[in-house]
Amino acid sequence: MKGLIIGIDIGGSTTKAVALQNDEIVGFAAIQSLEPVAAASGALGKLLFDLGRSLSDVELIAATGVGARRISDKILDLPARKVDEITAIGIGGLALTGRREALVVSIGTGTALVAAYEGGKRIVHVGGTGVGGGTLQGLSRLLLRTQSIASVERLAEKGDLSKIDLTVEDLAGGGVGRIPGYATASNFGKLLDEANESDIAAGIINLVGQVIGIVAIFAAKAYGLEHSVAIVGRLAQSPHLVRSISNVGALFQVSFTFPEKPDFCTAIGAAKRVQNPKNLILKKPYTTNVNL
Ligand SMILES: Nc1ncnc2c1ncn2[C@@H]1O[C@H](COP(=O)(O)OP(=O)(O)OP(=O)(O)O)[C@@H](O)[C@H]1O
Ligand SMILES: [Mg+2]
Repeated sequence: MKGLIIGIDIGGSTTKAVALQNDEIVGFAAIQSLEPVAAASGALGKLLFDLGRSLSDVELIAATGVGARRISDKILDLPARKVDEITAIGIGGLALTGRREALVVSIGTGTALVAAYEGGKRIVHVGGTGVGGGTLQGLSRLLLRTQSIASVERLAEKGDLSKIDLTVEDLAGGGVGRIPGYATASNFGKLLDEANESDIAAGIINLVGQVIGIVAIFAAKAYGLEHSVAIVGRLAQSPHLVRSISNVGALFQVSFTFPEKPDFCTAIGAAKRVQNPKNLILKKPYTTNVNL
């Protein structure tokens, strides 16, 4: 029985696969990104195994992510189409939130920002920042001798940011303009001698979360999407990061949405992109650029 559309997102760190049947996502699988062809085949195999389905059930594969450029028009002899990653992020963000428009902030190894309008008909690549999951892991390896997100999260549990970050109040004795005294003036700008690993772990997560939060807010304002900002990517599952990002949002009266299954956003977007056969004839998908 045919009918499965598989979205595979070969990311810089993780390869994610989803199975789409009619309009429903019926399966999820994630493995570490290896060599792209191996990663795509491995994620597909795991997905089908978990679902109890076989290769003959697959109608079409949609491949996206940095590794997709190494994929040809077949994966394990099944037809495969490449989907532009920015388009996949935009469509996936709308699918996860059920919205017609959103700024989708995808926090993976790096962070990409995509503005999606009109139910996905218009997708704009806003840009991004190199501060993302890779930054969190690299700094943690250097400063805490671990790059396990779970360990960093555990350490951060007891962390005290007042030993790491300089607040506006520390500098100015109170708030400045629209910024209250408790806002961060300088991430790692204080770093007391007695700061321990827990404090540093909290400081690293806060640095990454606050940079992403502020970039997202400025982008949302520039693109008229302050009412609808979705945070996705695997790192959107980190509770401390979510808290840091949310706090930045509160400061600027922007409410972020954290949808479920944020790590599968791009894979879902890719599958949905090819689901409509009309989309397939568009060589250059909806991506356009706006010059501000
Ligand atoms: N258990 C976890 N919970 C939350 N975040 C995690 C966990 N394990 C790893 N991460 C973070 O997730 C990041 C990878 O996220 P994701 O899989 O969305 O990115 P990617 O698609 O591989 O990368 P990119 O989109 O930049 O190519 C890693 O850099 C790591 O910091
Ligand atoms: Mg990704």
